[in-house]
Amino acid sequence: MSSVIDGKAFAAGLRGRVAEAVASLKAEHNVVPGLAVVIVGHDPASQVYVKNKVKTTTEVGMNSLHHELPEDTAQDDLLKLVDDLNNDPAVHGILVQLPLPGHIDSDKVLASIRPEKDVDGFHVVNVGRLSIGAKGIENKPIVPCTPWGSMMLIKDQLGDISGMNAVVVGRSNIVGKPMAQLLLAANATVTIAHSRTKNIEEVCRNADILVAAVGRPEMVKGDWIKPGACVIDVGINRIPKDDGKTKLVGDVDYASASEVAGSITPVPGGVGPMTIACLLANAVTACARSLGLEDPQL
Ligand code: GUN
Repeated sequence: MSSVIDGKAFAAGLRGRVAEAVASLKAEHNVVPGLAVVIVGHDPASQVYVKNKVKTTTEVGMNSLHHELPEDTAQDDLLKLVDDLNNDPAVHGILVQLPLPGHIDSDKVLASIRPEKDVDGFHVVNVGRLSIGAKGIENKPIVPCTPWGSMMLIKDQLGDISGMNAVVVGRSNIVGKPMAQLLLAANATVTIAHSRTKNIEEVCRNADILVAAVGRPEMVKGDWIKPGACVIDVGINRIPKDDGKTKLVGDVDYASASEVAGSITPVPGGVGPMTIACLLANAVTACARSLGLEDPQL
């Protein structure tokens, strides 16, 4: 049986370190980091995520600014709000919850956020900085939260991953692609598998590190996994149970995978809690950088 990677406990530790960094910015610079979260419309899953983000932001001592806009908000009005937040010195981080309603061009909205305040790390400037491995204080990227949180769990579990085979299943801009970049930066040999990949089971069986981020419930089975591999399940899927209620499952079939993997993240309680903790970490880092300080050691 594999060891269970406790993302919930790891995230609690990270939130504690973020709270300390927030307290020291307050004490030494009289600045409270401010995180603005913008949600457009009433997508139920997004509402739950945003409520959690607002709650944990205030728990670590940051200011939370929450903007809830109606479904039929005009794109120009959303762009105007982002512009106001860009120019507000009390706001150090801006997050526009995705997905946005169909009449709004998400790429345009994401491009309108100032890269220094883009705590999601979705702006092309941050994507580019991550891709080239930019390191200078002036041009370090802000790294997307879910891949960064996953990477922390991988490093905590395995230490140096140099030369290991890593397979990322899924090629989204939010998770798959930045996850591959982080693994590459840590000197893993990286493969991105996706819906058109041939012999995907065989590709996965080659992985010392397998990251599943496809949004398909329990797709990755135990016999896709190399014995002893580290399995990171990014999926959060709600599926019906026999009794008419629903349950959360990942993209990995936990029952069969945990028989084979060396270590594995559960759903819930694995990657999920890391995403919000990393968002808070990005916000406190953005605040420190805005003051010309070194990144807090988190
Ligand atoms: N929707 C699902 N995940 C995310 C995320 O990490 N950031 C934003 N802004 N929207 C999301």
